[in-house]
Amino acid sequence: MEYETVQGTSVPKIGLGTWQTAGQETYGAVRTALAAGYRHIDTAQAYGNERYVGNAIHDADVDREDVFLTTKVRPDRFRPGRLKRSVANSIRKLDTTYVDLLLLHWPNPLADLRETMEAMADLVERGDVRHVGVSNFSKKRLMKAQRVSPEPIFTNQVKFHPFKPQRELLRYCQDSDVLLTAYSPLGTGGVLDDDLLRRIGARYDKTPAQVALRWATQHQNVVAIPKSTSQDHIEQNIDIFDFKLDREELDRIARPDPVKNGLAFAKGTIGI
Ligand code: A2P
Repeated sequence: MEYETVQGTSVPKIGLGTWQTAGQETYGAVRTALAAGYRHIDTAQAYGNERYVGNAIHDADVDREDVFLTTKVRPDRFRPGRLKRSVANSIRKLDTTYVDLLLLHWPNPLADLRETMEAMADLVERGDVRHVGVSNFSKKRLMKAQRVSPEPIFTNQVKFHPFKPQRELLRYCQDSDVLLTAYSPLGTGGVLDDDLLRRIGARYDKTPAQVALRWATQHQNVVAIPKSTSQDHIEQNIDIFDFKLDREELDRIARPDPVKNGLAFAKGTIGI
């Protein structure tokens, strides 16, 4: 495993995403991932699966302290009282005493961001939360969160894959010691039959998914959280640290304009 260090804290470069997984499927995926060596798990209140993530970590042969655990607050719960109650609930469901990282799941233009970030900071002070961050924030909104937050913003979790390389946001994160957490690093499946990734993968005996994840994780300040419930894919997605893409391959893989390469929009798999 490789790690990314921001603000003095190291985070495993690959974590397990649990978006759109539920119940026993979530439990099984997290158990499989922990057995395969994952030590970074991502969930959210909105996924409705925190209880299963918690059970899986509890039942697995790992120490809670060794797992980097993220959850996210639903945007309709950003008022301080509601936020604090909802996080206490999340922590209970996750069967733990703290989360490593607490994110605002999406921007909520109706909420007072300063008040919300102050409530998050209170949770850090109490020891319920180690780091705070945001998700689906533009660079401008991220900068505003940094201005009003008493605690440093640890990450902005956004969609990041070869057709959405987030260049401006990433450069900003790199310059300001903020982690960029890449969700949907496989383009929600959209990069899996990409010809270039297949050809590059053949050089290293790797699948297109592995090449996409290597590409993401070779960027400084980036960690990736591919989602999978299949044992084979979960194991494959962490088996990417025994090869390295060269400069030319890294550049060719990023194709920010999906219209030009023709497939993404046509298939409806690559969102903005
Ligand atoms: P599955 O659960 O069957 O593995 P993303 O993280 O970009 O949103 O992509 C998630 C999708 O990609 C899921 O449908 C998942 O299905 C699939 N997936 C995850 N890892 C792999 C892999 N290594 N090879 C092929 N498909 C994968």
